[in-house]
Amino acid sequence: MNYIDLRSDTVTKPSEGMRKAMYNAEVGDDVYKEDPTVNALEEYFAHISGHEAALFVMSGVMGNQICLNLNSRPMDEVICESDSHIFHYESGTPAFLSGLTLNPVKGEFGILEPRHVEAAIRPREAYYMPRTRILSLENTHNRGGGTVYPSERITALKQVADKHGLHFHLDGARVWNAAVYSGCELKEITAQFDTVSCCLSKGLGAPVGSIIAGSKDFIKEAFRLRKAIGGGTRQLGILAAAGRYALENNITRLAEDHEKAAIIADAIYEYHNIHLERTRIQTNMVIFSVTGIPDADFTQKCRDKGLLISGSKPGELRIVTHMDVTFEQINKAVEILRSILEGLN
Ligand SMILES: Cc1ncc(COP(=O)(O)O)c(C=O)c1O
Repeated sequence: MNYIDLRSDTVTKPSEGMRKAMYNAEVGDDVYKEDPTVNALEEYFAHISGHEAALFVMSGVMGNQICLNLNSRPMDEVICESDSHIFHYESGTPAFLSGLTLNPVKGEFGILEPRHVEAAIRPREAYYMPRTRILSLENTHNRGGGTVYPSERITALKQVADKHGLHFHLDGARVWNAAVYSGCELKEITAQFDTVSCCLSKGLGAPVGSIIAGSKDFIKEAFRLRKAIGGGTRQLGILAAAGRYALENNITRLAEDHEKAAIIADAIYEYHNIHLERTRIQTNMVIFSVTGIPDADFTQKCRDKGLLISGSKPGELRIVTHMDVTFEQINKAVEILRSILEGLN
């Protein structure tokens, strides 16, 4: 069957233009720092993110974990939101790679409150507690439903981080969606953080890769750590060319993906067995729960009719829009969802 795949924006495939850019990429050995396409991408990203330097890494997890590791010591802790990706979906790597514990703080749809963060910071004199070292935000917030941090909230959280001497990190896997939603330049968000990790292979459509940014000294160490954990690669320019193409061609079009999510949310949120916080559908995700049918059965009914959706946290389902689905397919997805929901009523 030709499925409409709305499980994630990671299912996007490189477009023809992107493949051509990859084919034509000038390459060199990146372990020697001799790949001109990688070097240019890193410089470009440092510029647009408002940081001194940047480094191409293999994945979002690798990016986040390098940033956490190099800004902490074993026995430290990271404050993060209780639904955050680093807490749930990074295989316990903060403990495994860096000897860190995570201190999850509940936010509202993933968005942290400064006073809750401040209350979670350990007293400096408490030698018997982990030492709070990093405050990590996720923007947009995946399990929160693609929610966006208002700019004043980031500033207020930065003030908390500064006041307590915490490193301020952004898991910006989908920060591009946040910038498009907020109608601002990327650096208005990213420059507020000490380090950022941003994914090229989600809604931007590159096949592989994330990019981290921060100070020159940090990136120098990150280059070393990336190699140590097996992320040093050779003619990486082929992938960097896809990333560069994504940055130059696929950011502003994310607005379309947001529109597609809104079409789906508008079509289903009034069904009585759907729970969906309509005002929280801001970017390319629609997270909802359905009563009267187990999640697995609802997902299977969708699959049987040609629509793939995924789960979020237990009791919640997730639809993610992206560039590889057309508006026509979105309308078809709406028809499928409606037909299933009407069958339940
Ligand atoms: C918010 C967030 N951070 C990090 C990642 C990790 O990215 P990757 O799968 O490239 O390691 C993801 C992946 O979905 C994500 O949603």
